[in-house]
This record gives sequence, structure tokens and C-alpha cells, in this order.
Amino acid sequence: MRIILLGAPGAGKGTQAQFLMGKYGIPQISTGDMLRAAIKAGTELGLAAKKVMDEGKLVSDDIIIGLVKERIAQPDCENGFLLDGFPRTIPQADAMKEAGIVIDHVIEFDVADEIIVERMGGRRVHPASGRVYHVVYNPPKQEGKDDQTGEELVIRPDDEEQTVRKRLGIYHEQTKPLVDYYQGEASQGNCQYHKLDGTQPVDQVSEKLAALLG
Ligand code: AP5
Ligand code: ZN
Repeated sequence: MRIILLGAPGAGKGTQAQFLMGKYGIPQISTGDMLRAAIKAGTELGLAAKKVMDEGKLVSDDIIIGLVKERIAQPDCENGFLLDGFPRTIPQADAMKEAGIVIDHVIEFDVADEIIVERMGGRRVHPASGRVYHVVYNPPKQEGKDDQTGEELVIRPDDEEQTVRKRLGIYHEQTKPLVDYYQGEASQGNCQYHKLDGTQPVDQVSEKLAALLG
């Protein structure tokens, strides 16, 4: 099953990717996590990406497209994958299509901007795994610690309110057009398109997802 998770920053893509990975046994491809790993490793890509990400802007299409194509070519993606945070621009979506990468389901998470700003203030992440928590809505078992490793949770540098608002602006400008793009693809029978209310509690969103994916 090849799935695109589409939605604004903080809409719940990473949270539901964790659920879907466990349920369907397919890998999560989070371009944000890949870039954060490159920053941590101090690679050339990481150095270039850090400034752009901290400012809430998008990394160039060429770099991202190269990263994703390379990742999808890995053997663990043979039976499917979950794209989280990609594609994010029309050129990224076109590049997928041109490469012959077929998508089965596109899932849009619908959440209003003001709810997102509030959510991001409480987000905590486990950088090594990409696991995501929220201090109120999805708390870890032990405060400030990852459930599986017990390691420290951190606040993402781009979760500061002003940066979140900037990321939302970029989302509306550059990523939202993908809603029409994939609805068009669905109407031509190239994929299935589903829109979900992302404001419901985490478990309820997961249940809806499981019901529609079967
Ligand atoms: P990326 O890491 O992809 O960030 P994003 O798309 O902005 O999305 P987030 O990870 O912030 O949110 P999410 O939807 O995963 O929400 P989450 O589940 O964590 O990208 C970061 C940066 O990298 C970009 O700004 C850009 O610079 C660069 N980049 C990445 N991909 C790129 C690309 N393709 N092209 C160019 N540049 C790229 O949930 C958020 C919070 O809400 C959590 O605390 C969670 O616990 C909570 N929560 C989740 N669901 C619910 C719920 N139902 N109810 C209540 N709380 C909930
Ligand atoms: Zn995420």
C-alpha cells in the first residue's frame, strides 16, 4: 500500500504514520525526519537544510526529490510506504509521477490553523525514532521521556509560534494546491483521495484511517 499523508504542519501526519507503520508494516518516509537526521549527522545536506528549516521555509525541490527517490528504491519499500511531508509542492508531485511512482491512497488531514498553533506549543519529539507526543493530547507514559527507550524528549526548533505561523503560510501557498492536484488524480482513477477531520482525538483519527484503508 502506497500512501501520501497530506496536511498542514502539525495536522497529525507523523502521529498517524506511527500508527499505520505498526498496522500495515510499511515504512514511514518522513522528509522532515530525514533532514533532521542529516542535520544531526552534520552532513553537507544537513548544514544547508538547517538554516532553511529553522526559518520555516522549504528545502529546494531538487534536493528533496533526490532524497525521496533514493529512499523509495530501497528494498523495504517494495510492498509500500507512507510518505509523510512529501510531496509538498507541485514540482515534487510531478517528479513522482514522471518517475512512475504510483500512489494508492492520498489522505488529507483537515485542521484549522489556530488549532495547529496551539498544538505545536505542546509537541515533544524523540529525535532518534521520530515518535511524536503532546503534553496534553498524547502524553508519554513518563513525563519528558520516550515510551520505548526512556530517552529524553525535545522541542523541535521550528515549533516556536512565529515559525509555526510562517510554516502555515507556506503550506497554504505551496502545498495546499496539492489538494486539487490529487483530487484530480483521483477523478482520473489514478488514486483514492480521502479527507479526514484531523481535529478529533488521536485514537479516533486512527480508527477512521483503519476503516477507510481496510
Ligand atoms: P516536517 O517535519 O515534515 O514538518 P511539517 O510538515 O511541518 O509537519 P509536522 O511534523 O510539524 O507535523 P505533523 O503533521 O507530522 O504533526 P504531528 O503528528 O507531529 O518538515 C519540517 C521542515 O523540513 C519543513 O518546514 C521544511 O523546511 C523541511 N521539509 C520537509 N519536507 C520537505 C519537502 N517535501 N520539501 C521541502 N522542504 C521540506 O502532530 C503535531 C502535534 O499535535 C504533536 O504534538 C501531536 O502529539 C499532536 N497531535 C497529533 N494528532 C492530534 C490529534 N488528533 N489531536 C490532538 N493533538 C494531536
Ligand atoms: Zn511530522
